[in-house]
Amino acid sequence: MSYKDVYQSWEDDHEGFWLEAASYIDWDKAPTKALTDNGNGIYEWFSDSLGNTCYNAVDRHVENGRGDQAAIIYDSPITGKKDKITFAELRDKVASLAGGLAAKGVTKGDRVIIYMPMVPEALVAMLACARLGAIHSVVFGGFASNELAVRIDDATPKAIIAASCGLEPGRVVHYKPLVDGAIELAKHKPEFCVIYQREEERADLIPGRDVDWVEFQADTPEADCVPVEGNHPLYILYTSGTTGAPKGVIRASAGHMVALFWTMEKIYDVKPGDVFWAASDVGWVVGHSYICYGPLLHGNTTLVFEGKPVGTPDAGTFWRVIDEHKVRSFFTAPTAIRAVKREDPTGQLMKDYDLSELRALFLAGERADPDTIQWAFDHLKVPVVDHWWQTETGFAIAANPLGVEEIPVKIGSPSVPMPGYDVQILDEGGNKMGPNELGAIAIKLPLPPGTLPGLWNAEDRFRKSYLTTFPGYYETGDAGMIDEDGYLYIMARTDDVINVAGHRLSTGGMEEVLASHPDVAECAVIGVADQLKGQMPVGFLCLNAGADRDHDDVVKEVVKLVREKIGPVAAFKLAVVVDRLPKTRSGKILRGTMVNIADSTPWKMPATIDDPAILDEITEALKSIGYAGA
Ligand code: COA
Ligand code: AMP
Repeated sequence: MSYKDVYQSWEDDHEGFWLEAASYIDWDKAPTKALTDNGNGIYEWFSDSLGNTCYNAVDRHVENGRGDQAAIIYDSPITGKKDKITFAELRDKVASLAGGLAAKGVTKGDRVIIYMPMVPEALVAMLACARLGAIHSVVFGGFASNELAVRIDDATPKAIIAASCGLEPGRVVHYKPLVDGAIELAKHKPEFCVIYQREEERADLIPGRDVDWVEFQADTPEADCVPVEGNHPLYILYTSGTTGAPKGVIRASAGHMVALFWTMEKIYDVKPGDVFWAASDVGWVVGHSYICYGPLLHGNTTLVFEGKPVGTPDAGTFWRVIDEHKVRSFFTAPTAIRAVKREDPTGQLMKDYDLSELRALFLAGERADPDTIQWAFDHLKVPVVDHWWQTETGFAIAANPLGVEEIPVKIGSPSVPMPGYDVQILDEGGNKMGPNELGAIAIKLPLPPGTLPGLWNAEDRFRKSYLTTFPGYYETGDAGMIDEDGYLYIMARTDDVINVAGHRLSTGGMEEVLASHPDVAECAVIGVADQLKGQMPVGFLCLNAGADRDHDDVVKEVVKLVREKIGPVAAFKLAVVVDRLPKTRSGKILRGTMVNIADSTPWKMPATIDDPAILDEITEALKSIGYAGA
């Protein structure tokens, strides 16, 4: 079947398409219907089914003869460690940890926060929660205590599972003190914390609250898989919105299994048994879908890589891993390839390795610039697939479905909509736009299985964020266009979310931190173009009248504050003090114009600007830090 046939078969029978896909999942009670419409844009998939994600990702492979196959390959150039865990071993580890959690009272529906680096135990923790029907929420290690505390208060977890430390090049990330700090800050207190002690740094445990990962599960019986309803949340994953309060994206169990399983063969073109590698982090949606659940559900070997594209030890690391572990399909963020390309522009380091097993490179998380795609293609000589998706959707909205058909590539486009997604370009009034016209990208409801059914504890926010602007559609927050051949182009965000090294960050969240500085009267944060990371945040600070402070000192203090409050992942390093911010007559800060000035892209004087002279001051300030054509 061609891509067009497959997409058409979904258009002809939405529910039949996904019910057929559901037949690849082992159910305790198979779904009799696909979609339930709860009205007002709220849908559920496979809600009359019963099943367990951990069973499908682990146990069934052992029962079906894959027990001796590697489920997880751990490769950590940062510690020099490597390991292989078979499906049989993974089953035992997960059943044992789940047994320990169950003995301490964790049951179906309880929330468990996981704060761990890229070690196999992070996946074991996720799967152990899934086994019990407990809802995990993984928090990325690059977030600081305050961000962790916000998530603790929203998810109200019964337990936290954390590692003693993480390792960044040249620095140990002290996870345990960050957890302690977060619990101190949070109103909600978890009943207990399970600490996985790493050799690189052992943490002090707090008696009565903390338990050791190994000891606490040593004498408890293994736990069985608990069947859960199709719409039971498997996890909550917090992602950036326009304010400092992150959105808790809910992933319902059944649709997630069905959709991810489908993508492994049809998009990523792997067969069970193949090695699949997503070089991301379990703290992001890519890590949830394609380090943990997707490959394991499909019987693939997944790779847990604790390292960086460059510097661990060099820009040949990716190629070494692909060669050594016979990776068939590789997924990373464009930033990572840009980092490699910058250090090894001629691809010299690739020549040391045998990359003949590699069949495709997949890129997502941010815009893939044509140079990067071309460079990867020229050197790897395999299809380079840019695909577009979001935390909310959990899998690709648009891609080149290599397992169905490799459609012609148009560089700069993440190709075409996947089955399940009726993607439309709308104008401000919600009218459909024609080919090549730029507008808001929206998806006709219902969204396919595996996408978010709602936000944790925030139904109103869910409606306002996604369903209200264009009734009958899901608002993606991205702007772009569709060409005459149906290829999508993603141009920009329509909100104040920026994308730094494939990490989605809220400028609103950073502004809240800057505004908390005692000398800052007013502020704005914008995302400026960056050759390596795609975008970088830049802060503008107006100081309180009478604040007789050295500007450099204030800048240093706010940089430190963002690192402490949000975390190093914000990559907030640049700020300037200005007298005033450019605003419209109604008081709205003209962030878009500031971005254009910073990036030296053509712009028009906004008709509603209050005082155009302020833009000269902004231009000078940007020049002083190397932007605006400096
Ligand atoms: N725990 C703690 N800190 C972390 C972290 C983690 N898991 N991940 C990143 N950080 C820190 C980094 O150490 C860095 O700290 P620093 O300011 O002290 O240097 C900061 O957060 C910013 O990180 P990052 O933006 O990733 O920059 P970098 O300079 O460390 O690395 C790249 C640059 C290009 C190598 C890196 O961004 C990269 O590998 N990107 C790939 C992106 C990716 O996988 N995205 C996931 C979505 S698919
Ligand atoms: P996240 O939820 O962190 O995965 O971020 C999702 C956002 O990243 C999308 O809404 C886009 O703005 C951006 N994004 C992801 N993939 C792509 C892509 N292939 N091309 C352009 N932008 C992308």
